[in-house]
Amino acid sequence: MRFQNILDKKKHHQKITMLTAYDYPFGSLADEAGVDIVLVGDSLANVVLGLSSTKEVGMKEMLPHTRAVVRAVKNALVVADMPFEAYQINTKGAVDNARQFMEAGCHAVKLEWFDCCAQVTQQIVKAGIPVMGHVGLTPQTATQMKVQGKDAASARQIMNEAKILQQQGCFSIVLECIPQEVASLITQQLEIPTIGIGAGVHCDGQVLVSHDILGLFTRYQPKFSKKYIELAPLIVQAFKQYKKDVETGRFPDDAHSFHMSEQEIKKM
Ligand code: KIV
Repeated sequence: MRFQNILDKKKHHQKITMLTAYDYPFGSLADEAGVDIVLVGDSLANVVLGLSSTKEVGMKEMLPHTRAVVRAVKNALVVADMPFEAYQINTKGAVDNARQFMEAGCHAVKLEWFDCCAQVTQQIVKAGIPVMGHVGLTPQTATQMKVQGKDAASARQIMNEAKILQQQGCFSIVLECIPQEVASLITQQLEIPTIGIGAGVHCDGQVLVSHDILGLFTRYQPKFSKKYIELAPLIVQAFKQYKKDVETGRFPDDAHSFHMSEQEIKKM
């Protein structure tokens, strides 16, 4: 049903929405907002764990975060990002690792394009595990975080990779940081839905990192991301108010305290 919803949306030219979540509160809020797909992204590394590369997270980080999101999400499709080590270093263990994500309760895994992506995708799909592909800018292996496919040859290469992943059985594919003209052509030529991030308006759907759109991640802001609210200063303000209340004795007040009866106090 959750997969059918996404495939139907492409068929009926309705946009697909996807957001990242890494824990229970964000999973339930994204689900309450009605997004179609919740991605437990390996951007966990950057926006939650304070690391500089998505390559620095592995199975031991991704699995507990996936479980937390799964506990929260009731309606959306939950996709977990396979970490670099789980399929690019350990290609032989890729199916077992993908299985661990399914056992954690998610509905599909996402893999970034790399040299052996076609073979690894085929094996995971054959094992009955739905796979979302990811082409264009692939942060796990990129040497520079910049727009990909700006000339005809590299655009053709990305188009080719997307077609290979469709052939291997991917149910959908992320297009990251490519010119919108290229994303539009790929979207027209694929039967499976494309989900863009920095790939323009013609994709079948869009994905953004929640912490970016909420103004929670202040280290940098990608050009393609839109800030819908600036939460960081509001949070700092609340933390400062709490600190001041504690320091001045205004917190905890009577409304936030418990009492013992006079009789029990006497006995004590
Ligand atoms: O990890 C992530 O957040 C992602 C999205 C950018 C698609 O892969």
